[in-house]
Amino acid sequence: MSHDTIIANQSLHRFDGHDRIWLFGYGSLIWKADFSYIERRAARIHGWSRRFWQGSHDHRGTPESPGRVVTLVAEAGASCAGMAYLITPEVFDHLDHREKNGYLRETLAIEFKAGGHELGLVYIANPANAAFLGDASDADIARHIANAKGPSGLNRDYFRHLADALRELGEHDPHIEHIGQELQKITRVD
Ligand code: SIN
Repeated sequence: MSHDTIIANQSLHRFDGHDRIWLFGYGSLIWKADFSYIERRAARIHGWSRRFWQGSHDHRGTPESPGRVVTLVAEAGASCAGMAYLITPEVFDHLDHREKNGYLRETLAIEFKAGGHELGLVYIANPANAAFLGDASDADIARHIANAKGPSGLNRDYFRHLADALRELGEHDPHIEHIGQELQKITRVD
């Protein structure tokens, strides 16, 4: 599958009969809400883990030298905390463009921290997309993040914003914390 998912996403989920939809964000969509929303709530999804396994050709890296950003990986018993936004269907043109580097809209159950749940949409970059990088050691992922940059800025800023946002939400994500520890070692050595 190509890493540009705009056309694929436009043919998914026509939103017939829906004038409002919940969107779940688990990466930059937690801390960079550059779209209008009606309401937002801290939330979680089950059966998925956040992983720095997706290549970024257009935001935190380039096609020649991709950065590393997060996607979700299915994992029984796991859960992933993030932010849910109630949005209108028009917002998806902007989101499809922003998330075009491999992410497809999927429908998942979103559980709100304050209680209750709703079906909503989540952008997931699965291993079939051409920009997928996959697993590596925490130290290798940290080295990669420390060295990458793209049109949206330094890859390490993407990491820092995400780590800060999770801290503010009071959420503990071991994958993010371990990479953060490795990044600190690199910063100390540099
Ligand atoms: C998301 O935040 O939900 C998708 C991944 C990203 O844009 O960082």
